[in-house]
Amino acid sequence: MDYVTLNTGARMPRIGYGVFQIPPKECTQCVLDALDVGYRHIDTAQAYFNEAEVGEAIATSGIPREEIFLTTKVWISNAGEEKAYASILESLKKLKTDYIDLLLIHQPFGDYYGTYRAMQKAQREGLVKSYGVSNFFPDRFVDLVECTGIVPAVNQIEGHVFNQQVKARNIYARYGTAVVAWAPFAEGKRNMFRNPVIAKIGKQYGKSNAQVALRFLLQSGMSVLPKSVHKARMVENFDIFNFSLSIEDMQSIAALDGGESLFISHTDPDMVKFLIDYTKKKN
Ligand SMILES: NC(=O)c1ccc[n+]([C@@H]2O[C@H](COP(=O)([O-])OP(=O)(O)OC[C@H]3O[C@@H](n4cnc5c(N)ncnc54)[C@H](OP(=O)(O)O)[C@@H]3O)[C@@H](O)[C@H]2O)c1
Repeated sequence: MDYVTLNTGARMPRIGYGVFQIPPKECTQCVLDALDVGYRHIDTAQAYFNEAEVGEAIATSGIPREEIFLTTKVWISNAGEEKAYASILESLKKLKTDYIDLLLIHQPFGDYYGTYRAMQKAQREGLVKSYGVSNFFPDRFVDLVECTGIVPAVNQIEGHVFNQQVKARNIYARYGTAVVAWAPFAEGKRNMFRNPVIAKIGKQYGKSNAQVALRFLLQSGMSVLPKSVHKARMVENFDIFNFSLSIEDMQSIAALDGGESLFISHTDPDMVKFLIDYTKKKN
């Protein structure tokens, strides 16, 4: 297992188990399986509606809390200092823990300055060890850092072989913010799991497309959050620390970069409205 040291001094495992789109009914067992496989970093969010199930798994796993790195995220509907702070207390309750290892502002919309202040307060009180952002592309990221003087520990952004975030990562690196790649398989889009360039490379190392894709992201400097509900795939996705891609293979995969999102445009007004309304439909 590899770790990255965040700007708070905290050590974050560079592979985490993501629980987005895992229905609450399945989530506790999935997290228990992931912990059994060896994952020690779990990524959830208020907007995933499965924090309580993640908390249940951690509490019943028998693994000491301090051995697990737990991330959650404040959703737009909880933006603003008071609301965000109240939502942090609510997340702690659902997660059945007295601290969160990493707390992120999920999206750069709503009063995220207020949310950031709530996170600072929670950190002072020991409720949060490190905090940062997600989906803050360079303009919003630089705005937040320069206007508050506080550098996020992490920026969690879309990152996979088809959207490698090269320019954006250069900017985050200037500030020392660690980058975590969400949807590291592009959720299988563009036939990622059968892509012939990746498959040919994988054959040389005896590794699957999934493993090569994750390894590429690690060697590019990012941490990764693969999601699977299948234990055998959790094992496969975790088995990426015993090989290294050559410079030539890294270059071949770098050439797959399309330089744009396969999911979402944060500058599309309809998408912004969709995100703002997202939890309204579920609540
Ligand atoms: N901050 C954000 O805005 C944001 C947005 C999206 C995601 N995330 C985080 O990133 C995590 C991962 O992203 P994601 O779930 O969207 O997508 P992903 O990890 O790129 O892809 C998940 C898909 O790949 C399949 N899969 C996993 N391992 C496989 C393997 N070895 N072989 C073949 N298929 C495999 C899964 O199917 P099965 O489950 O059926 O195996 C699932 O359909 C999330 O869970 C969440 O924690 C964050």
